[in-house]
Amino acid sequence: MYDRYNRSISYLRVSVTDRCNLRCSYCMPEDGVQLLKHSDILSYEEILEVITEAVKMGISKVRITGGEPLVRKGIVSFVNRVAAIEGILDLGLTTNGILLAGFAGDLAQAGLHRINISLDTLDPGKYREITREGDILKVFEGIDAAKKAGLFPIKINCVVRNSSGEPDARSVKEFCITNGLEVRFIHEMSLADGCFTIVENGHGGDCRNCNRLRLTANGLIRPCLFNDAQFSIREYGIRKALEMALEMKPERGTVNTNGGFHNIGG
Ligand code: 5AD
Ligand code: SF4
Repeated sequence: MYDRYNRSISYLRVSVTDRCNLRCSYCMPEDGVQLLKHSDILSYEEILEVITEAVKMGISKVRITGGEPLVRKGIVSFVNRVAAIEGILDLGLTTNGILLAGFAGDLAQAGLHRINISLDTLDPGKYREITREGDILKVFEGIDAAKKAGLFPIKINCVVRNSSGEPDARSVKEFCITNGLEVRFIHEMSLADGCFTIVENGHGGDCRNCNRLRLTANGLIRPCLFNDAQFSIREYGIRKALEMALEMKPERGTVNTNGGFHNIGG
């Protein structure tokens, strides 16, 4: 499907939960955020219906995000059901890696192709500081498990404050080279200030070539991370909400004042 600016839209990012087991300082306030009511969160059945409809309209790539997707119960069988939808050529998941060691094998078996893991530093103390509670050793175990499970490629998302030349970013890059991982540097963004740049080594932030729509955990289709437009599948129905989001996809991102990374999925 094409939007008004003739961009081919083929990629749907699906947030399955707004919950997370970390509190990264650039993503969440320390005491967390107002969480969605459980009744507002889409069931896996509803999400599968959205993906199925989106695939009929031309989506071929799906990424599962959160919050942290691995904290939602039943994620493996959900992945399995997504993988079984005919027309999905690329199925990925973005995780903070904390629970990954226990999931990587099952996810690969369920049909997940690739995985992105967040890692902004190699220093355990700094990691704990950034994430406010995380144990970096768990992430390393998760990365190992993903390699053993044959997930490929494994990409590391590294949020940088200033540039990919800063010390933490350089050490993460070294680590990735040594371990056969791809690294992408994401500049710390502010949704409300409309402050974003192109992801180094990745595709995010490049409005002219943007191919994405997003589904939030509570059933809103969002055409752009840096825009307030959102269309509820429960209010409009799936097809209509997807069509409206396509129609309202802006030429380029500006500001987002009604959502955050924790519930739109970055
Ligand atoms: N700026 C940039 N990226 C962010 N993420 C979350 N918050 C921000 C932010 N303020 C992204 C990171 C992380 C992923 C889960 O979400 O890339 O790895
Ligand atoms: Fe959780 Fe990811 Fe946000 Fe960190 S950036 S708090 S891991 S959702």
